[in-house]
Amino acid sequence: MVQGNVRPAEMKRITTPELAASFIDEQVAALRGQIGDGRVLLALSGGVDSSVVAALLIKAVGKQLTCVHVNHGLLRKGEPEQVIRVFREQLGADLVYVDAVDRFLDKLAGVSDPEQKRKIIGKEFIDVFAEEARKLDGIRFLGQGTIYPDILESHGVKAHHNVGGLPEDLNFELVEPVKLLYKDEVRVVGKALGLPDNMVYRQPFPGPGLGVRCVGAITRDRLDSLREADAIVREEIEKLPEIPWQYFCTIPDFKSTGIKDGKRYMGWAVIIRAVNTVDAVTATVPEIPFSVLTAIRDRVISTVPGVNRVLWDISEKPVATIEYE
Ligand code: XMP
Repeated sequence: MVQGNVRPAEMKRITTPELAASFIDEQVAALRGQIGDGRVLLALSGGVDSSVVAALLIKAVGKQLTCVHVNHGLLRKGEPEQVIRVFREQLGADLVYVDAVDRFLDKLAGVSDPEQKRKIIGKEFIDVFAEEARKLDGIRFLGQGTIYPDILESHGVKAHHNVGGLPEDLNFELVEPVKLLYKDEVRVVGKALGLPDNMVYRQPFPGPGLGVRCVGAITRDRLDSLREADAIVREEIEKLPEIPWQYFCTIPDFKSTGIKDGKRYMGWAVIIRAVNTVDAVTATVPEIPFSVLTAIRDRVISTVPGVNRVLWDISEKPVATIEYE
């Protein structure tokens, strides 16, 4: 079992499939030792960390693990479907899929303050997860995708932005098999566990998801358009020989005048954002070839409802943050 919260000096950096395989063997044995015949619960977002923990736990204790995937309506295009496909269908996980889209979007309706939005998303997530946990009998353990930077930087972005903590009556023992690993090591382990590349090598995605990119008060139509536009932006930028560290789009809450069949109408603007950074504390803006920008423009304008303008944000951090909220 991983003991303590300090990475031992002699611990080798996991850089190869062989090192990952021996880490997996050790962890599987340790997890079986810790969990015995107990039941484990895991909130599975589909992000790298929780996915790797899920795959490790499936290997170690199989159906003693129950994964809960909460769809809060702020996920990217195709994400919930991929979680179900990979974990339920390919890895045979016991996966509870919770469609909480209406619940989240109803609570968020009319809320424009970014911190308030984050609080609502965080609290609602805990509430939904706790409700699911209470429906299950005999859970003793809670799996968590804590990684080493989370421990080192408990003042970091995740801790700063995300609210967390289950109610006191749900007093589970934590199972954190990757808590001494850096992100690149988690990816190597994920790859060795057979997870798909687009799950293992995915770009960082904020906990509140598209919620912080549908700027201001979220409306369902603008959110749907954002999800479609984001999928196009990702697809086109992934064709570049050097893929930026993070790349996405936002739809701000101002109206944009368009013209169709000689008539003016109000629509929205999509803003393309791509940045490079090492630690997300500062960020630079990579050049994107004009042909890629126009390919995004043409696809977005011709297929995404309501959008009549495409912009490219060239602001660096500082002074602009990476996200808009
Ligand atoms: P900013 O916008 O502060 O973002 O320059 C820095 C990095 O943090 C991510 N980010 C978040 N991650 N919950 C998260 O887990 C959040 O609320 C959140 N807000 C921003 C952002 O995507 C970028 O990688």
